[in-house]
Amino acid sequence: MYATDQLRDEHESIQVVLSVLERLCEDLQNKRPVNFEHAAGILDFLRTFADRCHHGKEEDLLFPTLAARGVPVKNGPIGVMLSEHAQGRAYIRAMGEALKRERAGENGTRDFVANALGYISLLRAHIIKENQVLFPMAERRLTAAEHSHLAIEFERIEKERVGAGVHEKYHALINDWQDAYLSVTRA
Ligand SMILES: [Fe+2]
Ligand SMILES: [Fe+2]
Repeated sequence: MYATDQLRDEHESIQVVLSVLERLCEDLQNKRPVNFEHAAGILDFLRTFADRCHHGKEEDLLFPTLAARGVPVKNGPIGVMLSEHAQGRAYIRAMGEALKRERAGENGTRDFVANALGYISLLRAHIIKENQVLFPMAERRLTAAEHSHLAIEFERIEKERVGAGVHEKYHALINDWQDAYLSVTRA
């Protein structure tokens, strides 16, 4: 059991939500009616689950542990991951502002879609790099004791930052969004 297993599972959930967001953007681009509650819910998921909790586990626990084991930070894989997290935050902020404008009757659609599509391609590539490069490094270099310590600390961050039971709430939302946006019967 590696601590990274939990992060890989979270990547799966994030990737489903990226596909949902992509469909929602297609609807906006094709001027189909869009449920803005879903857009707001997706943004909340990205801010809370993906950034505060998942990126928090990476930045505050996994990356420092890897750095202590000699994985380079500056000009190395950890530095790249950190700067991509920062770019992701900028996209999320811009999506939030665009959504606020759209809901206030000013046109925010174009900015929302542009930033959402930028975020989707950034995060997809980011997840591939972590799954294929950084996590295998962690799986090779860290001891079993370090992996189990990290797994316990991940749980602590999750409880502190998103609260007990909140992950379950997000999983239920993901199922609803999957039915609404990714089902085969969808026109
Ligand atoms: Fe990351
Ligand atoms: Fe990640």
